[in-house]
Amino acid sequence: MKGVGKFGEVMAGEKGKVSYDEVAARLLKIIHSGSQRKAITDFVCRELRKIPHYTWVGIYQVEGPEFVLASWSGPSATLHTRIPIGSGICGAAIAEKATVIVPDVSEDPRYLQCFINTRAEIVVPILRDGSPIAEIDIDSDQVNAFGPIDKEFVEWVAEDLGPIL
Ligand code: SME
Repeated sequence: MKGVGKFGEVMAGEKGKVSYDEVAARLLKIIHSGSQRKAITDFVCRELRKIPHYTWVGIYQVEGPEFVLASWSGPSATLHTRIPIGSGICGAAIAEKATVIVPDVSEDPRYLQCFINTRAEIVVPILRDGSPIAEIDIDSDQVNAFGPIDKEFVEWVAEDLGPIL
C-alpha cells in the first residue's frame, strides 16, 4: 500500500508508542472510506496528533482571501480560526506552494502565535491542479521537532487528502 511501510520509525512519548506506519495505515483507510469531508479531516487531525511530538494539528481550508480552520486536534482551541491568506507561516506555505518548516518559532518574524508552548511548526499545503486549496498545520512544543521524515510523511498525507477536499 502506498505510504504504509515506508516511514519505519517508532516513537514513544507521553501519548504512548506509535509508528508513522501505524498512523499511515489508519489514515489511508479513513481518507478512502467515502465518509463526509468533515469527518475525515477531524479524524486525520486526531490521528496525526498521536505522533508524540505533534502537539496541535489543524487543517485550514482556503476560502477566498482567508484560511478557515476546518478541523483541529490539540489541548486547546486557537483564536486563529480565520487567517488572511498573506499572513503567518500558513501564508508563507501558500505563497511558496511548498512545505515550510520553522525549527524555532521565536526566531521567525512571520510566525503568528497561537499557543504559548509552541516552539516549532510545519505547514504543508494541499494542492489541487497546482493550486493551494487547504493546508495541514502542525505545532510542536519541542524546538527542531520536524525533520525529513515528518516532511515526507505529512506531504504524503496532504497528497492523499487533496482529491477528497
Ligand atoms: N502559527 C500559524 C497560525 C496558526 S496557529 O499555529 C494554529 C502561522 O504562523 O501561520
